Amino acid sequence: MPKYQIAILPGDGIGRDVMDAAKIVLDTMALDAEYRPGDIGWECWRNEGNPLPDRTKQLLKETDCCLFGAITSKPNADAQKELRLDLQGKGIVYQSPIVQLRQEFNLHTNLRPCKAYPGNPLNYRDDIDLVVFRENTEDLYTGVEFRPVPKPVFDALMTHKKMKAFAQTPLDEMAISCRIITKKASHSIIQHAFDYAKEHKRRSVTLVEKPNVLRETSGMMLEEGRKIAAANPSIPFKEVNVDAMCMWLVKNPQDYDVLVSSNMFGDIISDLAAQLVGGLGFASSGNIGDSYAVFEPTHGSAPKYAGQYKVNPMAMILTVKLMLEWLGEKKHAGRLEDAVAQVIKEGKIRTYDIGGTNSTLDVAREVAAKFDQL
Ligand code: NAI
Ligand code: MG
Repeated sequence: MPKYQIAILPGDGIGRDVMDAAKIVLDTMALDAEYRPGDIGWECWRNEGNPLPDRTKQLLKETDCCLFGAITSKPNADAQKELRLDLQGKGIVYQSPIVQLRQEFNLHTNLRPCKAYPGNPLNYRDDIDLVVFRENTEDLYTGVEFRPVPKPVFDALMTHKKMKAFAQTPLDEMAISCRIITKKASHSIIQHAFDYAKEHKRRSVTLVEKPNVLRETSGMMLEEGRKIAAANPSIPFKEVNVDAMCMWLVKNPQDYDVLVSSNMFGDIISDLAAQLVGGLGFASSGNIGDSYAVFEPTHGSAPKYAGQYKVNPMAMILTVKLMLEWLGEKKHAGRLEDAVAQVIKEGKIRTYDIGGTNSTLDVAREVAAKFDQL
């Protein structure tokens, strides 16, 4: 039996293109692994009314980790229209399968490195090396939302004096999304950020929240952050409000190192950080739990490029590197990163986003060739 069982979920659109690129790279390194393909995404929604079928969840349970491409999500009304006719009108609601995976498999940590590889013409600067730790299961993304607002929910909220401002608003003209944050998850994400900083000899950890306004939720994150910082005095701890962070990331990104935040702020700042180092074509991520992890490029399914093998596979190849690190295959991971860095530095084989005309698979083959030479 191979050492690793790895689930492969290409998903939709360019998820498939970049997964083919990943396979070229994985083939060349001949890892002792069995790759087991599975279904996820829009076709599963349309045909089965479930973008994350039970058989796919079962596959994940039988494997060590998962490499995932991308999925397509559409607003509710569009999702309903595209559903198989006999499934329509049955009250089946579309739920993003990747958000489901994060929540159901308790993949609490979303790790998003944003590193500038010299030679990339899209680098904002060449000395950026950020890692974003984004809490992955809570916050405004829990899906606890109301529209119209049920009367008991409204009545309960009316016990808060700030709700008086909404006392006259009709219940069907109001929408509520709940920002739910727990001490446990706050502690966990910040602790993981500090552990990572220690292990990788990073310069600092910055907590990115908004405790001056979101006094309870961000306030609790800050309390946990300060406790963990006090227990780890060797690592400088910074506290920055999320709005100011967006400004500082554009002004002096080189001054920051490990960033940690809740789900939505982490989502936003990691896209900003990704653009500083070349954009979505370079942004990798891992959804990491205690014993399972799903690795995915940050980008989505980019339908307009689907099947054209035009998009940049570097985000996916760097995602493979994250997966190798998590599996403990540090040598392979280092060699793969060196191969990526060389291909970017030489600049001979490039996809359209960095001014080239090469295909997704050309870039993957070039990385694989460099990997073999190293
Ligand atoms: P997107 O990330 O799919 O694409 C936005 C644009 O970024 C593309 O049109 C393209 O110009 C560029 N881009 C993305 N990946 C690239 C790559 N590898 N190389 C070069 N350029 C690249 O985001 P969009 O258009 O907002 O969403 C499209 C679909 O993807 C939606 O249905 C959305 O819900 C879904 N999505 C899924 C995600 C996931 O699977 N985790 C994450 C983000 C969006
Ligand atoms: Mg995002």
